Amino acid sequence: MATLKLGILVSGSGTNLQAILDAVANRTLDAEIRLVVSNVPGVRALERARDAGVPHLVLPHREYPNREAFDQVLVDTLRGAGVEWVALAGFMRVLTAKFLCAFERHVVNIHPALLPAFPGTHAQKQAVDYGVKVAGCTVHFVDEGVDTGPIIAQRTVPVLDDDDEPRLGARLLEQEHAIYVEVLRWIAADRVRVVPGEAGARAHVVVSPP
Ligand code: GRF
Repeated sequence: MATLKLGILVSGSGTNLQAILDAVANRTLDAEIRLVVSNVPGVRALERARDAGVPHLVLPHREYPNREAFDQVLVDTLRGAGVEWVALAGFMRVLTAKFLCAFERHVVNIHPALLPAFPGTHAQKQAVDYGVKVAGCTVHFVDEGVDTGPIIAQRTVPVLDDDDEPRLGARLLEQEHAIYVEVLRWIAADRVRVVPGEAGARAHVVVSPP
């Protein structure tokens, strides 16, 4: 099986990035992190990439006239680094068709909610405010919507009576780190397939047995 040639897009603290870096370093994930790109300078995620000795750079989105121009540079940069699969790990930009066509069905994201509930930002707060008793995280393919692409895997956590956004968020992150690495292992082993829906139905993901 060919080693997964991964690009990782970040905007913040990078704990999911760290989980992936650790899995690659301890050889529990057969991947090569070709490039980490942040659209925000100075974030902790960049330090994590540097400390792991992984190529990393900043592409500040504000320096581009529009989303398409930014996405084109992103595509060229990732392709130039030999990236074949892209993992979003706390990347706070919506990607355009330009990017998604260039990496068709090769872009995945982790979201801190049980989609389709609570898409968008502050999903943990949305869950606490709503009063749900079970929350979770979702790894999904990225499409042009916000957190709407085909779901690959989900994990649940309980919501406790005294939870607030940070407490629930911390419980979720533990599961996020595990499930994201797990899904990347499935992808590296070529076990993940998107099955188109019939007659306008949603596409589903099927994970074949090892
Ligand atoms: C995570 O909660 C992830 O689900 C969401 O953004 C957060 C990123 O956290 N998309 P980190 O940067 O990986 O620590």
